[in-house]
Amino acid sequence: MKLLVCGGAGFIGSNFIRYFLNVHPSSEVVNFDKLTYAGNVDNLLDIAENSRYHFMQGDITDLDALTVAIKKYGITRVINFAAETHVDRSIHGGCKDFVLTNTLGTQMLLDAVRFNNIEKMVNVSTDEVYGALRLDDFSKFSEHTPINPNMPYAAAKAGGDMMCHAYYVTHKVPVIVTHCSNNYGPYQFPEKLIPFFVFKLLKGEKVPIYGDGLYVRDWIHVLDHARALDMLLDKGAAGEVYNIGVDNERSNLEITHMILKILGKGEESIEYVADRPGHDRRYAIDALKITKLGWVPEYTREKFEQGLRETVEWYRINTAWVEKLWARRDEFNAHIK
Ligand SMILES: NC(=O)c1ccc[n+]([C@@H]2O[C@H](COP(=O)([O-])OP(=O)(O)OC[C@H]3O[C@@H](n4cnc5c(N)ncnc54)[C@H](O)[C@@H]3O)[C@@H](O)[C@H]2O)c1
Repeated sequence: MKLLVCGGAGFIGSNFIRYFLNVHPSSEVVNFDKLTYAGNVDNLLDIAENSRYHFMQGDITDLDALTVAIKKYGITRVINFAAETHVDRSIHGGCKDFVLTNTLGTQMLLDAVRFNNIEKMVNVSTDEVYGALRLDDFSKFSEHTPINPNMPYAAAKAGGDMMCHAYYVTHKVPVIVTHCSNNYGPYQFPEKLIPFFVFKLLKGEKVPIYGDGLYVRDWIHVLDHARALDMLLDKGAAGEVYNIGVDNERSNLEITHMILKILGKGEESIEYVADRPGHDRRYAIDALKITKLGWVPEYTREKFEQGLRETVEWYRINTAWVEKLWARRDEFNAHIK
Protein backbone atom coordinates (compact mmCIF):
# COMPACT_ATOMS: atom_id res chain seq x y z
CA MET A 1 0.00 0.00 0.00
CA LYS A 2 1.14 3.56 -0.71
CA LEU A 3 -0.40 5.60 2.05
CA LEU A 4 -0.74 9.38 2.25
CA VAL A 5 -0.73 10.42 5.91
CA CYS A 6 -1.87 14.02 6.38
CA GLY A 7 -0.72 15.62 9.63
CA GLY A 8 1.80 12.86 10.33
CA ALA A 9 4.24 15.12 12.20
CA GLY A 10 1.86 15.56 15.15
CA PHE A 11 1.26 13.32 18.14
CA ILE A 12 -1.05 10.59 16.85
CA GLY A 13 0.10 10.78 13.22
CA SER A 14 3.76 10.20 14.10
CA ASN A 15 2.93 7.26 16.38
CA PHE A 16 0.72 5.85 13.63
CA ILE A 17 3.43 6.16 10.92
CA ARG A 18 6.01 4.39 13.08
CA TYR A 19 3.52 1.60 13.86
CA PHE A 20 2.31 1.28 10.25
CA LEU A 21 5.80 1.03 8.69
CA ASN A 22 6.70 -1.57 11.28
CA VAL A 23 3.73 -3.88 10.68
CA HIS A 24 3.60 -3.45 6.88
CA PRO A 25 7.17 -4.07 5.67
CA SER A 26 6.27 -3.66 1.99
CA SER A 27 4.19 -0.48 2.31
CA GLU A 28 5.28 3.14 1.85
CA VAL A 29 4.15 6.27 3.65
CA VAL A 30 4.09 9.89 2.48
CA ASN A 31 3.76 12.29 5.40
CA PHE A 32 2.04 15.47 4.16
CA ASP A 33 2.18 18.05 6.95
CA LYS A 34 2.03 21.84 7.13
CA LEU A 35 4.31 21.87 10.19
CA THR A 36 2.23 24.23 12.30
CA TYR A 37 3.37 24.96 15.88
CA ALA A 38 2.18 21.40 16.73
CA GLY A 39 4.00 19.64 13.88
CA ASN A 40 7.37 18.34 15.05
CA VAL A 41 9.81 16.61 12.69
CA ASP A 42 11.70 15.38 15.77
CA ASN A 43 8.76 12.99 16.36
CA LEU A 44 9.98 10.91 13.40
CA LEU A 45 13.76 11.42 13.56
CA ASP A 46 14.31 7.67 14.02
CA ILE A 47 12.68 6.86 10.66
CA ALA A 48 13.66 9.96 8.66
CA GLU A 49 16.17 7.90 6.62
CA ASN A 50 13.84 4.93 6.05
CA SER A 51 13.50 4.43 2.25
CA ARG A 52 9.77 3.66 2.68
CA TYR A 53 9.13 7.03 4.39
CA HIS A 54 8.76 10.33 2.50
CA PHE A 55 7.99 13.80 3.81
CA MET A 56 6.28 16.68 1.98
CA GLN A 57 5.52 19.98 3.64
CA GLY A 58 2.06 21.10 2.55
CA ASP A 59 -1.35 22.37 3.62
CA ILE A 60 -4.46 20.19 3.22
CA THR A 61 -6.45 23.23 2.11
CA ASP A 62 -4.23 23.26 -1.02
CA LEU A 63 -5.80 20.87 -3.55
CA ASP A 64 -2.94 21.32 -6.05
CA ALA A 65 -0.31 20.34 -3.49
CA LEU A 66 -2.36 17.30 -2.42
CA THR A 67 -2.73 16.24 -6.06
CA VAL A 68 1.03 16.55 -6.64
CA ALA A 69 1.73 14.32 -3.63
CA ILE A 70 -0.83 11.71 -4.70
CA LYS A 71 0.43 11.55 -8.30
CA LYS A 72 4.14 11.71 -7.50
CA TYR A 73 4.02 8.74 -5.12
CA GLY A 74 1.17 6.74 -6.70
CA ILE A 75 -0.91 6.98 -3.52
CA THR A 76 -3.65 4.34 -3.10
CA ARG A 77 -5.06 5.16 0.37
CA VAL A 78 -5.28 8.25 2.58
CA ILE A 79 -5.54 8.86 6.31
CA ASN A 80 -6.13 12.33 7.73
CA PHE A 81 -4.74 13.47 11.11
CA ALA A 82 -4.15 17.08 9.98
CA ALA A 83 -6.04 19.41 12.27
CA GLU A 84 -5.93 22.29 14.69
CA THR A 85 -6.47 20.30 17.87
CA HIS A 86 -6.21 22.41 20.99
CA VAL A 87 -9.58 23.26 22.56
CA ASP A 88 -8.24 26.20 24.59
CA ARG A 89 -6.70 27.81 21.53
CA SER A 90 -10.06 27.50 19.74
CA ILE A 91 -11.65 29.37 22.68
CA HIS A 92 -9.04 32.01 23.51
CA GLY A 93 -7.00 32.35 20.32
CA GLY A 94 -9.72 32.68 17.66
CA CYS A 95 -10.89 29.73 15.63
CA LYS A 96 -10.45 30.70 11.98
CA ASP A 97 -7.56 28.25 11.49
CA PHE A 98 -9.70 25.52 13.07
CA VAL A 99 -12.44 26.04 10.49
CA LEU A 100 -9.93 26.34 7.65
CA THR A 101 -8.05 23.12 8.40
CA ASN A 102 -10.63 20.94 10.16
CA THR A 103 -13.58 21.71 7.87
CA LEU A 104 -12.33 23.23 4.61
CA GLY A 105 -9.11 21.16 4.66
CA THR A 106 -11.08 17.93 5.05
CA GLN A 107 -13.30 18.94 2.13
CA MET A 108 -10.24 19.67 -0.06
CA LEU A 109 -8.79 16.31 0.84
CA LEU A 110 -12.09 14.66 -0.10
CA ASP A 111 -11.84 16.35 -3.50
CA ALA A 112 -8.27 15.08 -3.89
CA VAL A 113 -9.47 11.55 -3.03
CA ARG A 114 -12.42 11.84 -5.38
CA PHE A 115 -10.47 13.13 -8.40
CA ASN A 116 -7.58 10.65 -8.04
CA ASN A 117 -9.51 7.38 -7.62
CA ILE A 118 -8.17 6.68 -4.14
CA GLU A 119 -9.38 3.29 -2.83
CA LYS A 120 -10.11 4.42 0.73
CA MET A 121 -9.78 7.40 3.07
CA VAL A 122 -9.96 7.39 6.86
CA ASN A 123 -10.80 10.73 8.47
CA VAL A 124 -9.58 10.71 12.06
CA SER A 125 -12.01 12.62 14.25
CA THR A 126 -12.91 12.98 17.89
CA ASP A 127 -15.57 12.02 20.45
CA GLU A 128 -15.89 15.74 21.22
CA VAL A 129 -18.19 16.17 18.20
CA TYR A 130 -20.94 14.44 20.22
CA GLY A 131 -21.03 17.16 22.91
CA ALA A 132 -21.08 16.36 26.63
CA LEU A 133 -22.48 13.58 28.85
CA ARG A 134 -23.64 13.94 32.46
CA LEU A 135 -21.50 12.80 35.36
CA ASP A 136 -24.37 11.07 37.12
CA ASP A 137 -25.42 8.46 34.56
CA PHE A 138 -23.79 5.61 32.64
CA SER A 139 -24.62 6.72 29.09
CA LYS A 140 -21.98 6.56 26.36
CA PHE A 141 -21.56 7.95 22.86
CA SER A 142 -22.52 5.44 20.20
CA GLU A 143 -22.20 5.96 16.44
CA HIS A 144 -25.90 6.93 16.49
CA THR A 145 -25.52 9.71 19.06
CA PRO A 146 -26.43 13.02 17.36
CA ILE A 147 -23.52 15.32 16.53
CA ASN A 148 -23.80 18.22 18.99
CA PRO A 149 -20.43 19.94 19.48
CA ASN A 150 -20.01 22.56 22.21
CA MET A 151 -16.42 23.72 21.62
CA PRO A 152 -15.33 25.65 18.48
CA TYR A 153 -12.63 22.97 17.94
CA ALA A 154 -15.24 20.22 18.03
CA ALA A 155 -17.63 22.17 15.77
CA ALA A 156 -14.88 22.56 13.16
CA LYS A 157 -14.11 18.81 13.37
CA ALA A 158 -17.83 18.05 13.04
CA GLY A 159 -17.86 20.18 9.87
CA GLY A 160 -15.18 17.91 8.38
CA ASP A 161 -17.09 14.79 9.44
CA MET A 162 -20.27 16.08 7.83
CA MET A 163 -18.35 16.73 4.60
CA CYS A 164 -17.19 13.09 4.66
CA HIS A 165 -20.77 11.90 4.99
CA ALA A 166 -21.95 14.22 2.19
CA TYR A 167 -19.11 13.18 -0.15
CA TYR A 168 -19.88 9.51 0.48
CA VAL A 169 -23.60 9.95 -0.23
CA THR A 170 -23.25 12.40 -3.13
CA HIS A 171 -20.04 11.36 -4.85
CA LYS A 172 -19.53 7.80 -3.50
CA VAL A 173 -16.14 8.81 -2.10
CA PRO A 174 -15.00 5.75 -0.06
CA VAL A 175 -14.44 7.52 3.25
CA ILE A 176 -14.63 6.30 6.85
CA VAL A 177 -14.92 8.59 9.88
CA THR A 178 -13.59 7.66 13.31
CA HIS A 179 -14.46 9.19 16.68
CA CYS A 180 -11.78 8.41 19.22
CA SER A 181 -11.50 9.40 22.87
CA ASN A 182 -8.55 11.17 24.55
CA ASN A 183 -5.15 9.70 23.62
CA TYR A 184 -2.05 9.39 25.80
CA GLY A 185 1.46 8.19 24.99
CA PRO A 186 4.84 9.48 23.77
CA TYR A 187 5.42 12.46 21.44
CA GLN A 188 2.38 14.54 22.48
CA PHE A 189 2.75 18.31 22.22
CA PRO A 190 2.94 19.56 25.83
CA GLU A 191 -0.10 21.85 25.71
CA LYS A 192 -2.25 18.74 26.32
CA LEU A 193 -2.98 17.61 29.86
CA ILE A 194 -0.67 14.62 30.44
CA PRO A 195 2.61 15.88 28.90
CA PHE A 196 1.84 19.40 30.19
CA PHE A 197 1.58 18.16 33.76
CA VAL A 198 4.58 15.83 33.44
CA PHE A 199 6.74 18.62 31.96
CA LYS A 200 5.77 21.02 34.76
CA LEU A 201 6.32 18.49 37.54
CA LEU A 202 9.72 17.47 36.11
CA LYS A 203 10.65 21.18 36.25
CA GLY A 204 9.43 21.51 39.85
CA GLU A 205 6.37 23.63 38.95
CA LYS A 206 2.78 23.26 40.13
CA VAL A 207 0.07 21.86 37.86
CA PRO A 208 -3.14 23.86 37.22
CA ILE A 209 -6.49 22.06 37.54
CA TYR A 210 -9.53 23.62 35.92
CA GLY A 211 -12.52 24.13 38.25
CA ASP A 212 -13.27 21.15 40.51
CA GLY A 213 -11.14 18.77 38.40
CA LEU A 214 -14.08 16.39 38.00
CA TYR A 215 -14.06 16.48 34.21
CA VAL A 216 -14.12 12.93 32.90
CA ARG A 217 -12.41 11.71 29.73
CA ASP A 218 -12.12 8.17 28.33
CA TRP A 219 -8.35 7.59 27.95
CA ILE A 220 -6.84 5.36 25.25
CA HIS A 221 -3.17 4.58 24.53
CA VAL A 222 -2.10 6.09 21.21
CA LEU A 223 -0.83 2.69 19.97
CA ASP A 224 -4.26 1.14 20.48
CA HIS A 225 -5.68 4.01 18.41
CA ALA A 226 -3.03 3.31 15.73
CA ARG A 227 -3.96 -0.41 15.70
CA ALA A 228 -7.65 0.49 15.27
CA LEU A 229 -6.95 2.87 12.37
CA ASP A 230 -4.69 0.36 10.66
CA MET A 231 -7.46 -2.23 10.86
CA LEU A 232 -10.05 0.23 9.47
CA LEU A 233 -7.80 1.08 6.49
CA ASP A 234 -8.12 -2.59 5.66
CA LYS A 235 -11.50 -3.80 6.96
CA GLY A 236 -13.55 -0.64 7.57
CA ALA A 237 -16.62 -0.17 5.38
CA ALA A 238 -16.87 2.98 3.26
CA GLY A 239 -19.48 5.46 4.49
CA GLU A 240 -19.38 4.09 8.04
CA VAL A 241 -18.53 5.80 11.32
CA TYR A 242 -16.52 3.94 14.00
CA ASN A 243 -16.09 4.95 17.65
CA ILE A 244 -12.75 4.07 19.28
CA GLY A 245 -12.24 3.83 23.04
CA VAL A 246 -11.33 1.33 25.78
CA ASP A 247 -13.88 2.02 28.57
CA ASN A 248 -11.34 3.90 30.64
CA GLU A 249 -13.11 6.89 32.15
CA ARG A 250 -10.96 8.96 34.51
CA SER A 251 -11.38 12.43 35.95
CA ASN A 252 -8.64 15.02 35.48
CA LEU A 253 -8.10 14.91 39.24
CA GLU A 254 -7.60 11.13 39.19
CA ILE A 255 -5.10 11.40 36.31
CA THR A 256 -3.26 14.14 38.19
CA HIS A 257 -3.00 12.07 41.37
CA MET A 258 -1.68 9.10 39.37
CA ILE A 259 1.02 11.27 37.73
CA LEU A 260 1.93 12.84 41.09
CA LYS A 261 2.35 9.35 42.57
CA ILE A 262 4.54 8.15 39.67
CA LEU A 263 6.80 11.21 40.06
CA GLY A 264 6.85 11.06 43.87
CA LYS A 265 5.08 14.42 44.34
CA GLY A 266 2.21 15.43 46.66
CA GLU A 267 -0.98 17.55 46.85
CA GLU A 268 1.11 20.72 47.28
CA SER A 269 2.01 20.45 43.56
CA ILE A 270 -1.63 21.14 42.58
CA GLU A 271 -3.18 24.58 42.11
CA TYR A 272 -6.86 25.03 41.22
CA VAL A 273 -7.54 27.65 38.53
CA ALA A 274 -10.63 29.26 36.98
CA ASP A 275 -12.62 26.85 34.83
CA ARG A 276 -12.62 26.69 31.03
CA PRO A 277 -15.76 28.36 29.56
CA GLY A 278 -18.38 25.82 28.44
CA HIS A 279 -16.23 22.94 29.76
CA ASP A 280 -17.77 19.59 28.71
CA ARG A 281 -18.32 17.49 31.85
CA ARG A 282 -17.85 13.97 30.57
CA TYR A 283 -17.08 11.95 27.43
CA ALA A 284 -17.43 8.15 27.19
CA ILE A 285 -17.23 5.89 24.17
CA ASP A 286 -19.21 2.79 23.24
CA ALA A 287 -16.73 0.91 21.00
CA LEU A 288 -18.79 -2.23 20.37
CA LYS A 289 -18.89 -1.74 16.58
CA ILE A 290 -15.11 -1.71 16.05
CA THR A 291 -14.63 -4.44 18.66
CA LYS A 292 -16.99 -6.67 16.65
CA LEU A 293 -14.80 -6.02 13.59
CA GLY A 294 -11.88 -7.64 15.46
CA TRP A 295 -10.03 -4.77 17.16
CA VAL A 296 -8.40 -5.87 20.42
CA PRO A 297 -6.77 -3.07 22.44
CA GLU A 298 -3.68 -3.91 24.45
CA TYR A 299 -3.90 -1.14 27.05
CA THR A 300 -7.26 -1.93 28.62
CA ARG A 301 -8.56 -0.07 31.67
CA GLU A 302 -6.75 -2.60 33.87
CA LYS A 303 -3.44 -1.72 32.17
CA PHE A 304 -3.92 2.05 32.31
CA GLU A 305 -1.60 2.52 35.27
CA GLN A 306 1.14 0.66 33.40
CA GLY A 307 0.54 2.66 30.18
CA LEU A 308 0.61 5.93 32.08
CA ARG A 309 3.77 4.93 33.95
CA GLU A 310 5.49 4.04 30.64
CA THR A 311 4.36 7.36 29.15
CA VAL A 312 5.65 9.42 32.09
CA GLU A 313 8.91 7.47 31.97
CA TRP A 314 9.22 8.18 28.22
CA TYR A 315 8.99 11.95 28.87
CA ARG A 316 11.40 11.62 31.82
CA ILE A 317 14.15 9.92 29.83
CA ASN A 318 13.75 11.65 26.43
CA THR A 319 15.37 14.80 27.70
CA ALA A 320 16.49 16.19 24.30
CA TRP A 321 12.91 16.03 22.95
CA VAL A 322 11.50 17.57 26.14
CA GLU A 323 14.09 20.35 26.49
CA LYS A 324 13.58 21.57 22.93
CA LEU A 325 9.86 21.96 23.59
CA TRP A 326 10.35 23.32 27.11
CA ALA A 327 12.27 26.21 25.53
CA ARG A 328 8.95 27.09 23.82
CA ARG A 329 6.93 26.88 27.05
CA ASP A 330 5.44 30.39 26.71
CA GLU A 331 3.46 28.96 23.77
CA PHE A 332 1.68 26.35 25.83
CA ASN A 333 1.96 27.35 29.48
CA ALA A 334 -1.61 28.59 29.83
CA HIS A 335 -3.39 25.75 28.07
CA ILE A 336 -4.91 22.46 29.22
CA LYS A 337 -6.98 19.96 27.23
N1 LIG B 1 -5.06 13.97 20.78
C1 LIG B 1 -6.21 13.36 21.09
O1 LIG B 1 -6.43 13.00 22.25
C2 LIG B 1 -7.23 13.09 20.01
C3 LIG B 1 -8.35 12.31 20.34
C4 LIG B 1 -9.28 12.00 19.32
C5 LIG B 1 -9.09 12.47 18.04
N2 LIG B 1 -7.99 13.25 17.76
C6 LIG B 1 -7.83 13.71 16.37
O2 LIG B 1 -6.66 13.11 15.86
C7 LIG B 1 -6.04 13.97 14.93
C8 LIG B 1 -4.58 14.16 15.31
O3 LIG B 1 -4.52 14.72 16.63
P1 LIG B 1 -3.11 15.03 17.32
O4 LIG B 1 -3.37 15.05 18.78
O5 LIG B 1 -2.07 14.14 16.78
O6 LIG B 1 -2.86 16.52 16.80
P2 LIG B 1 -1.54 17.40 16.81
O7 LIG B 1 -1.99 18.79 17.09
O8 LIG B 1 -0.48 16.80 17.66
O9 LIG B 1 -1.02 17.30 15.29
C9 LIG B 1 -1.70 17.88 14.22
C10 LIG B 1 -0.79 17.81 13.00
O10 LIG B 1 -1.49 18.35 11.87
C11 LIG B 1 -0.63 19.23 11.16
N3 LIG B 1 -1.48 20.22 10.48
C12 LIG B 1 -2.27 21.18 11.03
N4 LIG B 1 -2.90 21.88 10.08
C13 LIG B 1 -2.52 21.35 8.89
C14 LIG B 1 -2.87 21.62 7.54
N5 LIG B 1 -3.71 22.61 7.23
N6 LIG B 1 -2.32 20.87 6.57
C15 LIG B 1 -1.45 19.86 6.86
N7 LIG B 1 -1.08 19.57 8.13
C16 LIG B 1 -1.62 20.30 9.13
C17 LIG B 1 0.25 19.85 12.24
O11 LIG B 1 1.44 20.40 11.70
C18 LIG B 1 0.50 18.64 13.15
O12 LIG B 1 1.61 17.90 12.70
C19 LIG B 1 -6.85 15.26 14.94
O13 LIG B 1 -7.72 15.28 13.84
C20 LIG B 1 -7.64 15.21 16.21
O14 LIG B 1 -8.87 15.88 16.09
C21 LIG B 1 -7.06 13.57 18.71
